[in-house]
Amino acid sequence: MAGLALAAWTVLAAAQGAKPNVVVLATGGTIAGAGASAANSATYAAAKVPVDKLLAGLPELGNVANVKGEQVFQIASESFTNDNLMKLGRRVSVLVKQPDVDGIVVTHGTDTLEETAYFLNLVIRTDKPIVVVGSMRPGTALSADGALNLLNAVTVAGSKDAMGKGVLVTMNDEIQSGRDVTKTVNIKTDAFKSQWGPLGMVVEGRNYWFRAPVKRHTAQSEFNIDEMSDLAPVEIVYSYGNVPRTSFDANGKNGVKALIHGGPGNGSVADRIVPVLQDLRGQGVQIIRSSRVPDGFVLRNAEQPDDKYDWVVAHDLKPQKARILAAVALTRTNDTKELQRIFWQY
Ligand code: DGL
Repeated sequence: MAGLALAAWTVLAAAQGAKPNVVVLATGGTIAGAGASAANSATYAAAKVPVDKLLAGLPELGNVANVKGEQVFQIASESFTNDNLMKLGRRVSVLVKQPDVDGIVVTHGTDTLEETAYFLNLVIRTDKPIVVVGSMRPGTALSADGALNLLNAVTVAGSKDAMGKGVLVTMNDEIQSGRDVTKTVNIKTDAFKSQWGPLGMVVEGRNYWFRAPVKRHTAQSEFNIDEMSDLAPVEIVYSYGNVPRTSFDANGKNGVKALIHGGPGNGSVADRIVPVLQDLRGQGVQIIRSSRVPDGFVLRNAEQPDDKYDWVVAHDLKPQKARILAAVALTRTNDTKELQRIFWQY
């Protein structure tokens, strides 16, 4: 089959000039959504439009690349599971090894897009561009953002200057790092931000770069989805004033390998919760302090004696991304010092 596919790409490429070959892996979300009327920019059903219709509705794609689509899932991204991440990652890993594939685009719901982008950033061993893209409005809405987001994603995925920059996210004309980006607002098209800023912009089919990632990713990663059977069980507990110990105990009994503590401020832990986390650590559960605060990063041994408690700090990773890194890292090590190194480096 691969031989036949290669022949098809080659014929198409020869016919259409030396445009890059980009595969679009569709998973659902608003970019595949549909609303009842053009005025419905926020009320719609996600994950309705199949990938072939999505691509056919954007003929401009043919100006920038030879594009093929695959429907991997058709789900809203809040419903993603570890199994979805592994299945998607395995498909990406197969495709990036094919010499006739120059880049990958993943169309995805925006709710958990940042988690999938970071996961792929950690486990796909390639320098080829991988671009995750979504939209805040369905294609049926006035001023829908999905078409240009998708065109920009295919442009970047087919660009040699996007190679080696880790997994990327193209939303609202910006090129964001899949590691750094997070959804900061639920009802505006400029929803995706990084506290460290975008890597660049795409404007009328051209990429403008202003910085590059410094954390390990993709080809430089020590992790490889081809060597992983599953993700380790890691859960998050969001902390707040009056938080009861029951939230933490329940997870401890569920056989988690690590618990992400999403604390206020510098990942602060309530005095009544410290012994609960120490007890879980004593049972072999890794404790990883993250912060619910949008920006900044958790300092080690500042308000909590992390060395003494044998805890890990999540650096600048928000709880949802800290979970992804811990779930990947724990497939290779359960050593606290190694985990802390990994959180500094990735
Ligand atoms: N249900 C949400 C999702 O699939 C819709 C949000 C979106 O895709 O923009 O992530």
